[in-house]
Amino acid sequence: MTSMLSSETAEPADEGRYDRLVRADKVHGSLYTDPAIFAEELQKIWFKTWVFVGHESEVPQPNDYVRKRLATQDVVMTRDKDGEVHLLVNRCAHRGLQVCDDAKGNSSSFRCPYHGWTYRNTGELLGYPYNKGYGGKNKLELGMGRVPRVASYRGFVFGSMAADGPSLEEHLGAAAGEIDRLAGLSPEGEVRLDAGWLAHRTRANWKFLAENETDGYHPQFVHGSIFGVTGSPIGALYSDASTAVTRALGGGHSENDLRPEFRTFAEPMRWFGTKPDRVPRYVEAMRQAYGEDAERRMIEGAPHVMIFPNLFIAEIQVFNIQPTAVGECTQYATAVQLAGGEEMNRRMISQSIGSVGPAGMLLADDTEMYERNQRGVSMLDPEWLDVRRGLVREVVDEAGFTTGAATDETGMRGFWKHYKSLMEA
Ligand code: FES
Repeated sequence: MTSMLSSETAEPADEGRYDRLVRADKVHGSLYTDPAIFAEELQKIWFKTWVFVGHESEVPQPNDYVRKRLATQDVVMTRDKDGEVHLLVNRCAHRGLQVCDDAKGNSSSFRCPYHGWTYRNTGELLGYPYNKGYGGKNKLELGMGRVPRVASYRGFVFGSMAADGPSLEEHLGAAAGEIDRLAGLSPEGEVRLDAGWLAHRTRANWKFLAENETDGYHPQFVHGSIFGVTGSPIGALYSDASTAVTRALGGGHSENDLRPEFRTFAEPMRWFGTKPDRVPRYVEAMRQAYGEDAERRMIEGAPHVMIFPNLFIAEIQVFNIQPTAVGECTQYATAVQLAGGEEMNRRMISQSIGSVGPAGMLLADDTEMYERNQRGVSMLDPEWLDVRRGLVREVVDEAGFTTGAATDETGMRGFWKHYKSLMEA
């Protein structure tokens, strides 16, 4: 597959490689299967742009730490004694050993088990045994590796392996407003992601997951069984008659904006499949916190947004997608927790277990599609994947974003446009 480009993909010769592979209405299958393209993605996307790693609430106390991933990199997210969050690359400066083996804990330092070199939780080398072998008391100018740039937005921690580049705020652009929307459902204006992460190893290229997250075409078919069993109204949100829209937010980010549907019903908490009298303490706390605006927040609900390249906020869950190889990635999922919304939090954990847990009924269906997608694109013919759905009817909205119908592939095209700009840079 990797070298079998038809004459259609090889022309015109003056275009860049990714101009040929990513068209306005279709993308080439080799983008999901070619190990050389994956290696290039690591350099041009995963080790360059901002990548979601975790949340500050996972290390709430000084000296807390938790192991995380940044694509192929094993990183340790630490909070130092002064409260600052760091992302250390889990590698000893001596002979490259993995330093930290525990999934999480609390420690001001890490000691490499091989020869006893010890590091502060900022990555700084504290000391090493038998220092005469290194010329005496002057400490070596070495340390654990670090993710050069670490920044957070409302507690969501991102890392960039590039020392320079756009700021996190520039990277997030309009997608930052979607994180604000989520935090705005907390009476205290704060989200926590401290309920624990489920790790789903998926035998598919990471882009299949990213594309699927705001694909409003598939839910009626892939998730029809869960909608039927639970009597869920979610399916109707993604029907041909839905007033919801799919929006490319720029920077490869996209959303399924379900607010038009919920505004039509104007029922608080409908977005969560419940009524105010089932969560009275939460509703009261929201009214206390936001006054008249509480009703709007509780009617419109949480965002459904894919933030390039790997953060997916699906109303009550957050997903963290990390690639491990061209045909494999891990999808980490956790339940959103709202500060001051304990009544909601218990329900969000239960619903998350039911939908994305080990025996959950939602993610298992998606994963079946991802893995069949990967097997399918390994076949040689046809070479292309079609992404034209909605091209004939999408519009630019008043805010300047390209917007399509609920079932259109507008988000995918936004993803690919940004992908191409990074890969051609
Ligand atoms: Fe870590 Fe030697 S490899 S101390």
